[in-house]
Amino acid sequence: MKKGPSEKGFFFKAFIGLLTAFSAYLLYSTFQESTTSASPSDLRDQIETVFLDSWNDYKTYAWGYDVYHPLSHQKSNMYGSNGKPLGWIIVDALDTIMLMYNSTQTHKQEFANEIQLVETWINDVLDYDIDVSVSIFETTIRMLGGLLSGYYLSKELQVGNPDIYLNKAIDLADRLLPAFDATSTGIPYSSINLHTGESVKNHVDDGASSTAEFTTLQLEFKYLSAITGDPAYWEAAEAVYTPLYEENDLLHTFHGLVPIYVYPDNAKFHGQNIRLGSRGDSFYEYLLKQYLQTHEPVYYKLYRQSMEGMKQFLLAKSEPSGLVFIGEREHGLYGPLSPKMDHLVCFMGGLLAMGATEGLQISKAREQPFWDTKHEEDWNLAKSLTRTCYEMYHQVPSGLASEIVVFNKGNSFRPNYWKSSKGDFFIKPADTHNLQRPETVESIMFLYHLTKDQKYRDWGREIFQSFRIHTSVNCQGPNKNCVFTSLSDVISKPTKKGDNLESFWLAETLKYLYLLFLDDVDLSSVVFNTEAHPFPVLPGELLTQKKLFTGWSI
Ligand SMILES: *[C@@H]1O[C@H](CO)[C@@H](O)[C@H](O)[C@H]1NC(C)=O
Repeated sequence: MKKGPSEKGFFFKAFIGLLTAFSAYLLYSTFQESTTSASPSDLRDQIETVFLDSWNDYKTYAWGYDVYHPLSHQKSNMYGSNGKPLGWIIVDALDTIMLMYNSTQTHKQEFANEIQLVETWINDVLDYDIDVSVSIFETTIRMLGGLLSGYYLSKELQVGNPDIYLNKAIDLADRLLPAFDATSTGIPYSSINLHTGESVKNHVDDGASSTAEFTTLQLEFKYLSAITGDPAYWEAAEAVYTPLYEENDLLHTFHGLVPIYVYPDNAKFHGQNIRLGSRGDSFYEYLLKQYLQTHEPVYYKLYRQSMEGMKQFLLAKSEPSGLVFIGEREHGLYGPLSPKMDHLVCFMGGLLAMGATEGLQISKAREQPFWDTKHEEDWNLAKSLTRTCYEMYHQVPSGLASEIVVFNKGNSFRPNYWKSSKGDFFIKPADTHNLQRPETVESIMFLYHLTKDQKYRDWGREIFQSFRIHTSVNCQGPNKNCVFTSLSDVISKPTKKGDNLESFWLAETLKYLYLLFLDDVDLSSVVFNTEAHPFPVLPGELLTQKKLFTGWSI
């Protein structure tokens, strides 16, 4: 006779199972309770705790390394395990620590210690004389951006030594600068060797550079010129636009919408794929943000044209709820509209809102001379898109969005795709992951401060709670701090964990959530780079005095 499970073993397993379920329930209900009744200052305190848990875990197991896997505790550097570090996580997280230091009510000393630790590491260990080719775009937005905002906040909040950050930023920028001289168009290849200064073409995509990559360097290089008074950074970064617009007749033939690859040697587009997701997104973002940074009208005109193109060619609505989304034109402007949308596109709600209001509260913005029907249209679209992105979280069992969705247009259903709770979108099996990305909470943060509508804080709190419950592990037990990690599947419950800490979880997602629950955030005096690093708006007098200006017109 075959033996069944022994009674003792069976009851023991059932008991352990119940215990696990019960403790998961306890954890869930504790988190639930502590967030639904929480005041903004309680929420800030909880966000600080999540940040410190995540940061301390990194410090314990991978301090100094660029890449960290929180479950296996594996670590490495960006470019080779034995190579020198770029500061990927440390430099990216620095200004979040500074902002939390400035506003915390409970962790002041802890944040002060962390700033000291980071500053010492940057000064003593970080050395950009590295014999590897790095991505110009990623290195600029994360490292140069992080160092520059570290400089800005260090002065602004009177913490630490701003010169340490500035000197390191200048050293890094000088190593990136030769990239702009390597081609006749001034459009850089995708990588550069930080030691030799040799530019390196993209190994795939027929050597083309991503459009969003070389058009997402300008805020950083212009700010550095404004600090140092040296126009070289500004001029090099800005020079990419003339060939891009002229060689492609971008304003007319393309209605301001860019295919996602460009040949750096002749500035012509490669392929016809047009989308506001990966490789396209921050082209649009930096048009507006350059306008917000210096108020030079040329960039508003370019942005305006692109937004009109987007409204004409890319907008659609889902069934059954009529959620407005931005689709893709994989085969050019006159090809079919694909209802696929990357989570990355969710920055657009916040961008349109900032473009409409220029950072003023909506009631004030409507009184300004610049307000017109286009601004009103952008504003309404900003609200609709932010709602859509909130629904991308709300209609999923874990309350967390997947990397990509396909909106329901009545005809896009595939049997192996997962369908959202209200049916507005599908998720393809390969796209169920969540990298703890920031774009939705980013838009929610902007919309909240521009409206003070409590709804946005409610959405942000719900998403924060989902992150806290579903991207954490090892929370049980006394004095046991949670570890946070990305997810490989947001649909199954419990969620399937990935094993990676993206630096933007610390640099962006938790920062934007924190700013959402701060009360006095003045959005008209700062501009956030695409990695959430804040820079000051540059006043006209300063630019005149330093002889910095836009060297082109269209
Ligand atoms: C820093 O803290 C002060 C005092 O609470 C506050 O007024 C200011 O807005 C904060 N600055 C930032 C950038 O958060």
